[in-house]
Amino acid sequence: MDNRKTYYITTPIYYPSDNLHIGHSYTTVAADAEARYRRLRGYDVMFLTGTDEHGLKIQRKAEEAGISAQEYVDRIVANIKKLWKILDVSNDKFIRTTDDFHVKAVQKIFEELYKKGDIYKSEYEGWYCTPCESFWTESQLQDGNCPDCGRKVELTKEESYFFRLSKYQDRLIEHIENNPDFIQPESRKNEMINNFLRPGLEDLCVSRTTFNWGIPVTFDDKHVIYVWVDALSNYITALGYNQEDDSDFRKYWPAQVHLVGKEIVRFHTIIWPAILMALDLPLPKQVFGHGWLLLDGGKMSKSKGNVIDPVVLVDKYGSDAIRYFLLREVPFGSDGLFSNEALINRINSDLANDLGNLVSRTVTMQERFFGGVMPEKHEKNAIDEEIREYMLSLVPVVEGYMDKLQFSNALAEIWKRVSRLNKYIDETTPWLLAKDETKKDRLAGVMFTLLESIRIVSILLQPFMPATPLKIWKQIGIGSNNSWDSAKEWGLYPTGAKVLRGEILFPRIDVAKELAALEAMNEKKNEKKEEKKEEEPDNLITIDEFAKVEMKVALVEEASVVEGSDKLLLLKLDLGNEKRQVVSGIAKYYTPEEMVGKKVVCVTNLKPAVLRGVVSEGMILAATKGKKLTLVTIDGDLPAGSKIS
Ligand code: ME8
Ligand code: MG
Repeated sequence: MDNRKTYYITTPIYYPSDNLHIGHSYTTVAADAEARYRRLRGYDVMFLTGTDEHGLKIQRKAEEAGISAQEYVDRIVANIKKLWKILDVSNDKFIRTTDDFHVKAVQKIFEELYKKGDIYKSEYEGWYCTPCESFWTESQLQDGNCPDCGRKVELTKEESYFFRLSKYQDRLIEHIENNPDFIQPESRKNEMINNFLRPGLEDLCVSRTTFNWGIPVTFDDKHVIYVWVDALSNYITALGYNQEDDSDFRKYWPAQVHLVGKEIVRFHTIIWPAILMALDLPLPKQVFGHGWLLLDGGKMSKSKGNVIDPVVLVDKYGSDAIRYFLLREVPFGSDGLFSNEALINRINSDLANDLGNLVSRTVTMQERFFGGVMPEKHEKNAIDEEIREYMLSLVPVVEGYMDKLQFSNALAEIWKRVSRLNKYIDETTPWLLAKDETKKDRLAGVMFTLLESIRIVSILLQPFMPATPLKIWKQIGIGSNNSWDSAKEWGLYPTGAKVLRGEILFPRIDVAKELAALEAMNEKKNEKKEEKKEEEPDNLITIDEFAKVEMKVALVEEASVVEGSDKLLLLKLDLGNEKRQVVSGIAKYYTPEEMVGKKVVCVTNLKPAVLRGVVSEGMILAATKGKKLTLVTIDGDLPAGSKIS
C-alpha cells in the first residue's frame, strides 16, 4: 500500500485563447515548481491543470470564426498543451470541461444541489460581464462597467436557477477566520472578508437560457449550467468524483492548494467553498492568489495588444531561463513588471554570470589541475568550514520558503550561495595554489568544496529549472540519481569522479542587439496582423445587416433620474407617431433639465429591457471616449419621428 503523504495542487483551468501570453504561463510554472518540489520531498503528488471551455464568450468567438464551438476549442486546446510541454510543465492530469466524464459529473452535482434545496428556480435580472463570465448588481458596477475588468456589461433578464450562496455566508466567514492559511496572501483574505463577505452575499445565478454552449441542466434542458459552477467543479471531477472510479478523489481530496491569479480569488474562496459545503465535502486547505505580470503598467491582454509570446521566448532562451525569470523576478503574491530588458538582464547576471561561470570555472580548473579527476586527499581550512556550514543551512531555508510558495525568496537564497562560491574562488586563488607543488592537497580541498557545493545547489534547482541540474551533473561527473535529502549532507562528492566540460549553460546575451531584434519581431507581427485585417475584413457588415437597425429622431419631452441610481436617466420621448420611454446611462453627463427639448437619435427596434425596475424601450446613441460622453444629435432641424438610415 502506498502510504506516502499526498499533495494535490491545481492551477485554474484556462480559457481557450488563441494568444497565450507570458502572463498565462505564470500560474502554471509556479504550480509546476511546487509540484516538482513536493515530489522531490517524497509526496505522492497530483498536479492538475486543464481548460475551461464553455460559456458565451467562447460561443461568440466560435461564431466569429464561423466554426462550431467544439471545433474552436479543440484547435486551441492543442496549442495550450503544447505550451505546457515546451515549458516543461509536469502536470499529472489535464482536464477539459468538455470531457464527457466532467459533463456528467457536473450534471449530477447540479441535480444533487437541487434535490437538497440549495438550488432553486427564479428569475435573474441584472448585469453580466461576458469576458469575466461574472454577474454584477447595479451598485457593484463602476461607472456602469465591470468592476473587475472595466469593460461593458450586458443587461440580462432571464428565468434562472439560483444557488443559495447567502445561506453559507456565516460559515464562510467562520471558516476563513478560523483557518488563517485558507486564503493567502493575507491581504487577499482581508479583501474577501471586507469587500464581499461582510457586506452580505446574494444568492448566485447558476444557469443561463440565452445561449447553449454549456452543460445542460438535466431536468430542465433549456438551461445550461453557469460556467463558474461548471469550471470550479473540475477540481473534483478530474479525480473521479461522481464517477464509478473515484479512488483518486478519495486519495487526493481535499486539495492542498488551488493556485490562482488574484482576479479569481473571489470565485475560489466564496463560491467554490460554499458549493463544497452544500455537497458536504471538505474544503481545500488553501487558495493562493498570486499577482499579475504587468506590461507598461497594465495587465497583459490581447485586446490591449501588449502580449508577449512565451513560445518565442522559450525558443530563444530556453525553458529554464524563462521559468527562472518568472519565479525569481517577482515575490509570489505581488504584481510585477515584465520587460524583455529585465528578462535579459536576469539571464545575463544570474544565469550566465553567477551560476554559469561558477560551473564552467570550476570544471575548467578541475580539468586543468587534476585531469578532471577528484583526488582522494584534500586539505580543509577554516574558510571551507564556513562554506560547508553556509551550504548546509541552505536546504532548511529553501524548504521553509517552498512550503509557503515563496519561490523568489527560495531562489534568492540559492543565489546568495552561488555568489559566495564565486567569491570563494577569488579568495582562495586556486590558480596560484596550482603553481606550488606543496599545495596540491590544499588545491584539492578547494576544488572539493566547489564541486560539493555545486552538487548541493544543483539538487535544489530541480523544482525551478528541470533541465539545468542534469546538465550540471553531467559536467561535474555525478550520476543523475540525486535525492533531495542528499543535499542535506556534506561530503558526498565522490573521490575519483571525473568532470566533463560541456556546453556553456547560459550563453551571455548582447542586450542591445537582442532588444532590437525582439522589437523588430513584434513590429513585424503587428504589421502582419494589420495586413490580415485588410485581407479578411471580418468585422464588416452588409447593408442588409445595417438596415436591421431602426433609428429615429426623438424629442426628449421629460427627463428624470431613475430612483436608486446615480447613473440612469429616464427619458420620455416623442417619436412622431408614438411616445416611448428609454432608460439611459447618462446621468453623470447630463442633468434632466439639460435633456428636455433635445433631439436625439433613438434605436427603436431593440428588445425592451428592464433597468433598475424601469422598462426601457430603446436606446439613445452617444459617443464615448475614456470618461467623456456626448450624445449624438441631429444637424439641422428635422421633426421627431424622422427615420435615420
Ligand atoms: O480565469 N499575470 O482562466 P484564464 C499573471 N477559466 N497571471 C495571469 C496573467 C497575467 N498577466 N494573465 C492571466 C480563468 N493570468 C478561468 C479559471 S478556474 C475554475 C477557472 C492567469 O485563462 C490568471 O490569473 O483567464 C489565471 O490564474 C490563469 O492565468 C488562467 O486565466
Ligand atoms: Mg482571466
